[in-house]
Amino acid sequence: MRKVCLSAVGSLSLALLIASVSLLVAHVLQRAVDLQVKQETVLKNGTETFELWEDPPPPVYMQFYFFNVTNPIEVVHGDMPFVEEIGPYTYREYRPRVNVHILDNGTRVSSVNPKTYVFEPEMSVGDPEVDRIRTINIPAVTVMEMTKSTPLRLPTELLLILYQEELFTTHTVHELLWGYKDKLLSALHHLRPEIDSYFGLFNKMNGTDDGEYVVLSGKTNYLNFSKILEWRGKEALEWWTTESCNMINGTDGSVFHPLISMDETIYVFSSDFCRSLYVTFERFVSVSGIPAYRFVPPAKVFANVSVNPDNAGFCVPAGNCHGSGVLNVSICKQGAPILLSAPHFYQADEKYIKDIKGMHPRKEDHETFLDINPLTGILVQAAKRLQINVLVRQLTDFIETGSVRTLVFPVVHVNESMLIDEASAKKLKNVLFEATLVTSIPFIIMALGILLGIGFIVLVCRPPGTKEQSTEEERAPLIRTS
Ligand SMILES: *[C@@H]1O[C@H](CO)[C@@H](O)[C@H](O)[C@H]1NC(C)=O
Ligand SMILES: *[C@@H]1O[C@H](CO)[C@@H](O)[C@H](O)[C@H]1NC(C)=O
Ligand SMILES: *[C@@H]1O[C@H](CO)[C@@H](O)[C@H](O)[C@H]1NC(C)=O
Ligand SMILES: *[C@@H]1O[C@H](CO)[C@@H](O)[C@H](O)[C@H]1NC(C)=O
Ligand SMILES: *[C@@H]1O[C@H](CO)[C@@H](O)[C@H](O)[C@H]1NC(C)=O
Ligand SMILES: *[C@@H]1O[C@H](CO)[C@@H](O)[C@H](O)[C@H]1NC(C)=O
Ligand SMILES: *[C@@H]1O[C@H](CO)[C@@H](O)[C@H](O)[C@H]1NC(C)=O
Ligand SMILES: *[C@@H]1O[C@H](CO)[C@@H](O)[C@H](O)[C@H]1NC(C)=O
Ligand SMILES: *[C@@H]1O[C@H](CO)[C@@H](O)[C@H](O)[C@H]1NC(C)=O
Repeated sequence: MRKVCLSAVGSLSLALLIASVSLLVAHVLQRAVDLQVKQETVLKNGTETFELWEDPPPPVYMQFYFFNVTNPIEVVHGDMPFVEEIGPYTYREYRPRVNVHILDNGTRVSSVNPKTYVFEPEMSVGDPEVDRIRTINIPAVTVMEMTKSTPLRLPTELLLILYQEELFTTHTVHELLWGYKDKLLSALHHLRPEIDSYFGLFNKMNGTDDGEYVVLSGKTNYLNFSKILEWRGKEALEWWTTESCNMINGTDGSVFHPLISMDETIYVFSSDFCRSLYVTFERFVSVSGIPAYRFVPPAKVFANVSVNPDNAGFCVPAGNCHGSGVLNVSICKQGAPILLSAPHFYQADEKYIKDIKGMHPRKEDHETFLDINPLTGILVQAAKRLQINVLVRQLTDFIETGSVRTLVFPVVHVNESMLIDEASAKKLKNVLFEATLVTSIPFIIMALGILLGIGFIVLVCRPPGTKEQSTEEERAPLIRTS
């Protein structure tokens, strides 16, 4: 009887140990969890994933910080500029996907993504309709750069004098962002109707979309979920090129175009984050209690050509390159001397920071990052931070440029950020908890096996004294009955 019991305990313990080890080695439960994730990572009509993709719940905020120039006259005379950062002016960004069509038996999905920006007074320093910013006169600088050394330089100069345009101009935040009628551009509009008389960083962009996107649904490979295939009928470019050009190319001939919305970046990254050239793992973080990996663009995204030859595309004409940390994006809009950088020239050449009084680059405030939950690939937090700069230099054709130094002049920096909403965070935490529970089953089985094994060993190897005693006790009744 005892022997049977002992061997049963022993075999059970062994079986449990073998079972747990095989489960671990074969990754059975890990695979079940992965399969679950894979099945959810596909755009299929009627699923929750599809609904969330069509109308993403986490709020996205665009925060603008302008640089107000305090010594414009001195700058025209060749002094170093002083700027004062003014912001944030915060807008909530709504970006549902509309005109959604499922193509090719569910492997691709097309949509347009109109964006609407609604001002958030509680998250802003002031009223954009009232607050005035003195900054570079971008339309004037652009027209001067375009007409310098051409027969048009004289008419341009006459117009500039007539309209009393100067190197610096003052406008409200609302005008700079959403557009104002510019006298110089209006005059040019009469000559060339394709030139817009309005100028603004986000001119005409409220409520409009930037063309049709075609993305992969993830049906054939979940890693390609929401990966952009085509944009406006053209094959999607390298992320950074698309990003930079998208920002500058207007759909309607305007000089500027909004920063590509956060979500495209998200999906390019999240579907591709292990392979992408443009973000690298930095560290582990915890966002609202959710474990995540933080990805940041490596410094080489903005590096000069000697460090990153891939950036040669931004040296136009060939060989005309800038130092680290700034990208010439006039490639995207002929003539507009626009350069992109990280805010406050974070990670850029020291010379850009030293040229402007008021630049204070800080990693935590000025770095772009993405926090992605590794199990599900869900983006839990992100901040995309960029600065728009204008190349300012003395142009002998135009008296407006005076004897200004050659400067990469900061106009505004933007933080487009999102944080997972509470409801989604709760749901994600539940999913993660269940996954942890399922994947810990082998360890629970193993623990049981070990406990039983210990019990078995204790029973087998009890000290001889106790063992004899028990044998006597067992024998005693036998003797009596016989
Ligand atoms: C999804 O299905 C609903 C109901 O069946 C339909 O009305 C809708 O048009 C479909 N959406 C797409 C993008 O096919
Ligand atoms: C579409 O997909 C379904 C299921 O994956 C398959 O049965 C069907 O043959 C496919 N149709 C075409 C036209 O490829
Ligand atoms: C953008 O459009 C929406 C709706 O048309 C409006 O509520 C909002 O105030 C507009 N935003 C700006 C900055 O004009
Ligand atoms: C920007 O600077 C100008 C000139 O110094 C000043 O009048 C204006 O009030 C400043 N803007 C803000 C928002 O402080
Ligand atoms: C989809 O993903 C696979 C594997 O990650 C990759 O080889 C393939 O090129 C992707 N397809 C597209 C169209 O990007
Ligand atoms: C490129 O950047 C590196 C590192 O910042 C620097 O040492 C080098 O001088 C730069 N080259 C040019 C041509 O600016
Ligand atoms: C930027 O690129 C444009 C061509 O796209 C070129 O004409 C211009 O000179 C470049 N600007 C600088 C400052 O390198
Ligand atoms: C932006 O516009 C320029 C010309 O205006 C064009 O060459 C370039 O391909 C456009 N870029 C994108 C990304 O559409
Ligand atoms: C965005 O970044 C700025 C610094 O560039 C920071 O002050 C601000 O709090 C950030 N906004 C959000 C919503 O994280």
